[in-house]
Amino acid sequence: MNKQLEINEKGHLTVGGVDTTYLADKYSTPLFVYDVTKIRENARAFVETFASLGVKAQVAYASKAFSSIAMLQVAKQENLSLDVVSQGELYTALQAEFPVEKIHLHGNNKNREELEMAIQHNIGCIVIDNFHEIDLLTDILANYEKEVDVLLRVTPGIEAHTHDYILTGNEDSKFGFDIANGQAEKAFRLLNQKDRIHLKGLHCHIGSQIFETDGFIMAIRRLFDTLADWKRKYQFEANVLNLGGGFGIRYTNEDDPLPLNEYVRALVTEIKKQVTIHQMDVPEIWIEPGRAIVGNTAVTLYSVGSKKEIPEVRNYIAVDGGMTDNIRPALYQAKYDAILANKADQPNTYTTSVAGKCCESGDMLMWDLLLPSVESGDILAVFSTGAYGYSMSSHYNRFPKAAVVFIENDKDTLVIRRETYQDLVRNDLSYE
Ligand code: LLP
Repeated sequence: MNKQLEINEKGHLTVGGVDTTYLADKYSTPLFVYDVTKIRENARAFVETFASLGVKAQVAYASKAFSSIAMLQVAKQENLSLDVVSQGELYTALQAEFPVEKIHLHGNNKNREELEMAIQHNIGCIVIDNFHEIDLLTDILANYEKEVDVLLRVTPGIEAHTHDYILTGNEDSKFGFDIANGQAEKAFRLLNQKDRIHLKGLHCHIGSQIFETDGFIMAIRRLFDTLADWKRKYQFEANVLNLGGGFGIRYTNEDDPLPLNEYVRALVTEIKKQVTIHQMDVPEIWIEPGRAIVGNTAVTLYSVGSKKEIPEVRNYIAVDGGMTDNIRPALYQAKYDAILANKADQPNTYTTSVAGKCCESGDMLMWDLLLPSVESGDILAVFSTGAYGYSMSSHYNRFPKAAVVFIENDKDTLVIRRETYQDLVRNDLSYE
């Protein structure tokens, strides 16, 4: 976890200088608290490293990690581009007035409506995922008399060391065109015949929460082998190479990610090597970090409610959220670290597991966590919940979604309101 804890004179955890117990009081819990300064630092680590290495690049924030109007406004201020994967994410981007030319549309099942919306709004790039999409897009472009830049998403067959559920870059994948079985080349030839579709280059995404650079390097080599082949056969030169996201972050002390600039250096070094080998120009390098931009920038605050001690078995405390605001422990056995925000200066003396509030035994946030002595009413702060927390939250058990607060310059700003019970039944219609 981020053990450089900020603790104030009251012994309370602070985020960006603001007392988290004050925030829990003011906005209630569960509450996502983002440190915007950290979001900017992460974004700049990527953007500035590319700039310092003198390569043209786009750092596209993968908004699936956390999408909201305020978040996309920060991404826009930091000169990021944007990866969206649905009409909802695209709609949010448009509401945030994100520059359309810097928006890239992803998805393994883009439908006509989504593609039409992208074309109508002149977004910068569509990442083509399958043959069906090529047909749909061809039809739409003819109707609208428009043209579009695209990348071809390929699966290079690289297994990144990560959790199986979030591996998206191997051959047996629902995403993209396989290089090895020739489908990528078939799609390439098809796209080359389309007047209104301009193929700018290749895209791949080898997985998520990756701690080493080997997987990326192997993927780059595979992409360049393919590009060299297509250059020889078709005189094709890629302007863009998009290497996706996946850069890992620290959730607990077991995690040992690289500094963000080191991932970038490794990618750029390998690409420069490959262009020399294959006598090509350096393409623009695009990446799509989601987790690495926002993951370590938020804590979730919960109120502790009930406590259960099972002698010689285990202690449990339960908080007022759980799998509805953080599905990752239940879905991926993801591990987190936490402290008591109101007792941040007290010694850890009590081992307890942390349960959520849902009616389901799988709703556990953490196992056997070491805390100070816990009482009902304490505030539990769970670290590194900024990515795939709020964005994967659900209404299970009809819990309203949590609120989200941004902290910057010692100031707290509510950026997503807590849902109300009225919100929950807003779309329900009566049947009597
Ligand atoms: N680009 C593409 C094409 C992707 O599929 C993804 C994530 C990203 C970029 C961003 O990856 P990141 O930098 O955030 O690792 N819900 C899972 C993660 C799923 C990732 C899916 N694709 C989790 O909570 O760990």
